[in-house]
Amino acid sequence: MTRFVVSQSPPLSGRVKISGSKNSVLPIITASLLSEGRSIIEDIPALEDVNVICDVLNNFGVKTQRVNSKLFIDVDDITSYQAPYELVRKMRASFLVLGPLLARLGRVKISLPGGCAIGTRPIDLHLKALRALGADISLGHGYIEATTRGLKGNRIYLDFPSVGATENAIMSAALADGVTVIENAAEEPEIIDLANFINSMGGNVKGAGTDTIKIEGVSRLKGTTHSVIPDRIEAGTFMVATAMNGGDVILENVIIDHLKPVEAKLKEAGVEILEVPCGIRVVSNGRVKAVDIKTLPYPGFPTDMQAPMMALLSVARGTSIVIETIFENRFMHVAELKRMGANIKIEGRSAIIEGRKKLTGTHIQATDLRAGAALILAGLKAQGETVISNAYHIDRGYERIEQKLSALGAVIRREQT
Ligand code: EPZ
Repeated sequence: MTRFVVSQSPPLSGRVKISGSKNSVLPIITASLLSEGRSIIEDIPALEDVNVICDVLNNFGVKTQRVNSKLFIDVDDITSYQAPYELVRKMRASFLVLGPLLARLGRVKISLPGGCAIGTRPIDLHLKALRALGADISLGHGYIEATTRGLKGNRIYLDFPSVGATENAIMSAALADGVTVIENAAEEPEIIDLANFINSMGGNVKGAGTDTIKIEGVSRLKGTTHSVIPDRIEAGTFMVATAMNGGDVILENVIIDHLKPVEAKLKEAGVEILEVPCGIRVVSNGRVKAVDIKTLPYPGFPTDMQAPMMALLSVARGTSIVIETIFENRFMHVAELKRMGANIKIEGRSAIIEGRKKLTGTHIQATDLRAGAALILAGLKAQGETVISNAYHIDRGYERIEQKLSALGAVIRREQT
């Protein structure tokens, strides 16, 4: 098993290049199933999740080849409509093949995605969207089977602005007959990136980034070349690392507009954030003020930044309240932070954090990728050595995190046990 060994580190300094967005590249890779021919996706992050989604596509007879940060996808002949459990269970985002495969083949059989550490992760809104477009859906033996004699455009209202349900709906509607309007759609930047990819394949998606998205179905889509947007959550994680440990760091390849809620909260905490020609510069003395956080759908404060922020608030001056409104069980990092001396009390979906002057290193474990990243940040600040097991969670969403942090002066190493 892999683990990270992190020691108390000096203030961070230097430059870090942010990788392509995990949560943008995954739906874009599944959307390539809509097209015929070759697509080239650029700025691919080197993540385990990207390897898994490529395995899923290979299972359908699609050829994928990665050359450095480029991914070549050849969708000439799709030889299967089934996504088996052993692949889907590895990563929930595999469920994003549902929409494109149904639209392309008229039939798909996919294992129900498992839950995960942060919640049950239901799929009712995905199914509601596909049924609205004319899919017949049956559930049984842990599988979903969807068939259609031809998807037809329709109006879809999402009870919650689910990112994945919005993405599956857009991908299905792209090849449907007629116009689809998705209301109460997710507005995340990754939705805009997906829409841009589909439009560059010859699709017609308008309004991405707002709560109402209009898709005019076309008869066919062809392969294209697309460069993925930077990962706003990786960027936010490095901003918080600098805020927490102190230092002066320049983040390259960042779209600051995607980070407004994180930027606002860090400035409120007393961190200096400046736009510079190649990205943003973060300057901090490592002792920030307590702030309150409430996670919300975009453009609100992102739930994926809740755990890293909680690590920061554990050593802030004063008391903070964090409310997690998106997932029902996204406080798994709290028990681990408390083992390091953090003073955190959970009451339902709220956590009350009394900032401490210091944390102490110990053995802890990552429970999901963002919680794992939060524990690394805490380890950089804590006295002594912190050993974080289950590091594979972190590798799912952060490319070479220990190398990027070491280049900024952090004392961190990867160990195989
Ligand atoms: C995406 O997950 C991201 N994953 C998550 O990032 C992110 O936390 C989440 O959006 C919210 O921003 C990818 O993009 C691959 P949702 P997704 O559907 O699409 C409920 C990370 O760390 N819901 O917006 O699964 C659901 O229970 C990961 O990178 C339904 O009720 O998120 C949850 O409470 C973690 N019914 C809320 O919506 C549904 O049919 C948000 O889920 C679907 C969702």
